[in-house]
Amino acid sequence: MLRLTRPVCSRVAVPTFARLISTGAALPSAQLREDSPSQKVDLADETSKGTFIVVGVPGAFSPGCSQRHIPEYLKLADDFKSRGVKNLFVVAVNDAFVTKAWKEQLSDASGWARFLADPKGEFSNEFNALFDAAAFFGNKRSKRYAVVVKDGKITETFVEPDATGIDKSAAEEVLKTL
Ligand code: BEZ
Repeated sequence: MLRLTRPVCSRVAVPTFARLISTGAALPSAQLREDSPSQKVDLADETSKGTFIVVGVPGAFSPGCSQRHIPEYLKLADDFKSRGVKNLFVVAVNDAFVTKAWKEQLSDASGWARFLADPKGEFSNEFNALFDAAAFFGNKRSKRYAVVVKDGKITETFVEPDATGIDKSAAEEVLKTL
């Protein structure tokens, strides 16, 4: 006879990975870098008033990120702006020299899109967005995701289930929800 010594489900384990990329949550407080290692950006502060989109990408200059994912956001920038999106923040586990060069190559002259470096992956780790990308990039990188942030709180999440695809987090999909 099967005897249970404890009630099944007596304790519900809440996995930490579900903690942060979820609606209602605030953005991680880990500092990012913009243009230079000394220029710190607190994304939780930057997004505290108004509507913003934060996009996480596996790597600056990678084909998917550079030829499709971010260019599609830039192409639709006027549509996002007309729906009240003040800025697009692109976060990558790269150093600030790399994200600066990437911004210059993608050339959003208006400054609507801001490119932020997460050199040690601290922001992405707090967001539980890191995945093992050693085979491609030699280290852990950010999954591809997008979140809409309104007045400091995440209101919509679009996380790629396979970490790298461009489907749920594509610009057109995010735009539809605004
Ligand atoms: C990309 O092209 O964006 C990419 C390539 C390999 C792994 C992850 C992303």
